[in-house]
Amino acid sequence: MLRFEPRTFARATTPDPGSMLNPYTEPLHPGLWKMLTVAMCVALVGCLQAQELRGHVSIVLLGATGDLAKKYLWQGLFQLYLDEVGKDHSFSFHGAALTAPEQGWKLMAKALESLSCPSDMAPSHCAELKDQFLRLSQYRQLKTAEDYRTLSKDIEAQVKQEDLREAGRIFYFSVPPFAYVDIARNINSSCRPGPGAWLRVVFEKPFGHDHLSAQQLATELGSFFQEEEMYRVDHYLGKQAVAQILPFRDQNRKALDGLWNRHHVERVEIIMKETVDAEGRISFYEEYGVIRDVLQNHLTEILMLVAMELPLNVSSSAAVLQHKLEAFRGLRGLNKGSAVVGQYQAYSAQARRELQKPEGFHSLTPTFAGVLVHVDSLRWEGVPFTLMSGKALDERVGYVRVLFKNQAFCIQHERHWAPEQSPCLPRQIIFHIGHGELSHPAILVSRNLFRPSLPAHSWAEVQERPGLRVLGRPLSDFYAYSPLRERDAYSILLSHIFHGRKESFITTENLLASWDFWTPLLDSLAHEVPRLYPGGADTGCLLDLELNGGHLSFSQQQPEQLVPGPGSAPKPSDFQVLRARYRESPLISAWPEELISRLASDIEASALQAVQHFGKFHLALSGGSSPIALFQQLAMGHYSFPWAHTHLWLVDERCVPLSDPDSNFQGLQAHLLQHIRLPYYNIHPMPVHLHQRLCAEEDQGAQTYAGEISALVANSSFDLVLLGMGTDGHTASLFPQSPTGLDGEQLVVLTQSPFRPHQRMSLSLPLINRAKKVAVLVMGRTKRDITMLVSRVGQEPRKWPISGVLPSSGQLVWYMDYEAFLG
Ligand code: BG6
Repeated sequence: MLRFEPRTFARATTPDPGSMLNPYTEPLHPGLWKMLTVAMCVALVGCLQAQELRGHVSIVLLGATGDLAKKYLWQGLFQLYLDEVGKDHSFSFHGAALTAPEQGWKLMAKALESLSCPSDMAPSHCAELKDQFLRLSQYRQLKTAEDYRTLSKDIEAQVKQEDLREAGRIFYFSVPPFAYVDIARNINSSCRPGPGAWLRVVFEKPFGHDHLSAQQLATELGSFFQEEEMYRVDHYLGKQAVAQILPFRDQNRKALDGLWNRHHVERVEIIMKETVDAEGRISFYEEYGVIRDVLQNHLTEILMLVAMELPLNVSSSAAVLQHKLEAFRGLRGLNKGSAVVGQYQAYSAQARRELQKPEGFHSLTPTFAGVLVHVDSLRWEGVPFTLMSGKALDERVGYVRVLFKNQAFCIQHERHWAPEQSPCLPRQIIFHIGHGELSHPAILVSRNLFRPSLPAHSWAEVQERPGLRVLGRPLSDFYAYSPLRERDAYSILLSHIFHGRKESFITTENLLASWDFWTPLLDSLAHEVPRLYPGGADTGCLLDLELNGGHLSFSQQQPEQLVPGPGSAPKPSDFQVLRARYRESPLISAWPEELISRLASDIEASALQAVQHFGKFHLALSGGSSPIALFQQLAMGHYSFPWAHTHLWLVDERCVPLSDPDSNFQGLQAHLLQHIRLPYYNIHPMPVHLHQRLCAEEDQGAQTYAGEISALVANSSFDLVLLGMGTDGHTASLFPQSPTGLDGEQLVVLTQSPFRPHQRMSLSLPLINRAKKVAVLVMGRTKRDITMLVSRVGQEPRKWPISGVLPSSGQLVWYMDYEAFLG
């Protein structure tokens, strides 16, 4: 219950004239006194009826005169006050910044002047509440450690003076991240409330630039605050249509249970298009770009809400956060082929202007990105999730669209289709976040799906608007619902902070999981030349996307550059696959993409041939990073591969449990096995983990594997062995000077690696050389020196084990990308 004692109005705290200011606390006009007395009486009655007062809450807005505060936060705080006044708490609001009191107050007062009430509130009531809010709001300069101590003392004095109990303090950091640590230190050392009261600190993005910087920032903040005290804001989680995704899934469980999965969902699109460009904030944008600015946070959070398993109790913060984290674990790693990037044409010139760069400067920062995401779970396997956002596009709109498969084959003419039942019309659920033709948040469900249930007190059916189309369909095709009262995201989030509802915020684990997912893609795109687009409607179809197997691409070929720009670098497709010889064996060289697809096709051809002649195909695969793209290519692009007749063997293994991320088998599992249908008994992991210990000689794992090979592979001659080459000339897990495996009778050996984990199991050179075909895949600039060296040496396996690879009657083929071969 807000206290209506005159002194609360006249002065919420004992002001220190040096550091804080609020002219609204000056003596009151007699007319106002009258109004206040009435208000007091009403409030006192309320007070008597109300339950026990839960205490006083102080809200400190750091950066109170900044843009975000002016645009959203003060209005959000006012809304919080409107929602909570007359309930259980009393409030004081402290706007803070580095600016001196007089000047600071003036700037803050400007933001406060424009506060507004919901349209259904009577103007007189609004004026009254606004007046109260202004009286409870102070400006104070927070610069030194002493300022923070004084703030804390003032809060304590006010609470004591007004005979209140302190419930908690909220510190909202609306300041640049470089200021976080100092402020955090001050709050932790001198502004914590006493026992029994809570502290909540609220942060705005960016929360780091990549996984490492996010981790560092999280560690620093973690040294001042407990996890439960921290609220990291992603304002998209406060947008009404987004905040409704989980409740919608929950309230429509019955209808959605059978539908929300890979058998029924064709694809999911998560879209945020903007018409504004980055002008005026290039120094920020140049460092972040659209993926860090929007996809890593807003769109990923939405993706999680769609993809996560629904907890039994969606109002349990802990359960929601836990399920979200599990959904992160299911995200398949991204690679270059998962993304396309663009840049509006005027961007580089804006960057030159704002950053005072020289004439020839061209930025590579993407202002547009489309990314194809896959979720490896039984629910979502194979369903493409497309995330897309861009600046300077033709319209401003945000939505999530879940498009369902349509198996109908319709005979009748379209005019006979009835939206309510016709299976011929598209079936989709759209969470319309805002803007666009519809211009407000909404949830739309195709009428041929089901009539959704939404909370009747806050959502209502949208009135029909003839001629209005949403994503190409007339509004009348949908059951369409909108919030009864449109609310800004910040006001929703502030209310959640006040009520301690953590599910709408980004926990540290959640944040790091997200950066873990995005950082490798960002690294691989660091030098990618974005496609230039003119911006606005002139962009035409230039940015249209196409999903192709596991890849996303622009559907139109790269046009001539609009201006001579950074895009003139040669593209992989400008080069032919090069055929030559290396160490007297055939060499295939190309850009990585072509090389991998050529190798995958060659493996498939060998497989088909072997199955045709012998009924099975024995393939031994290496681990490490080079073959990952190959595994993905085989999984996503080779549907006629005879997997049912293929046996998979390991060339080598690290002595770690098979479930360990370092295990070669784990790489095979993640990038290949889980996407194909291979009979279980055709999978042959190396037995490195027996009797709960790793690669113990006594366990005879190497001998067991050799036995298995002899029993199943005719002549112990694999149809194909895929090898790599290390920078020291090692291959499989046969390292220079290895005492085992380079010659002799043994088929499988235990070896030592100079790299961690040191213990390994490996096929021996004699066994490898029995193979019908050996392919050696060598990729990347780091292999350049060894490639040169090995091209000149003879057969000296003790120094360079790879030089001992020479199949006795089979064929050896080298596959090298241009960077490894040409440098
Ligand atoms: C912000 C981004 O997080 O979201 C901006 O930094 C973007 O680049 C903005 O314009 C979009 O938010 P909204 O609420 O206007 O859709």
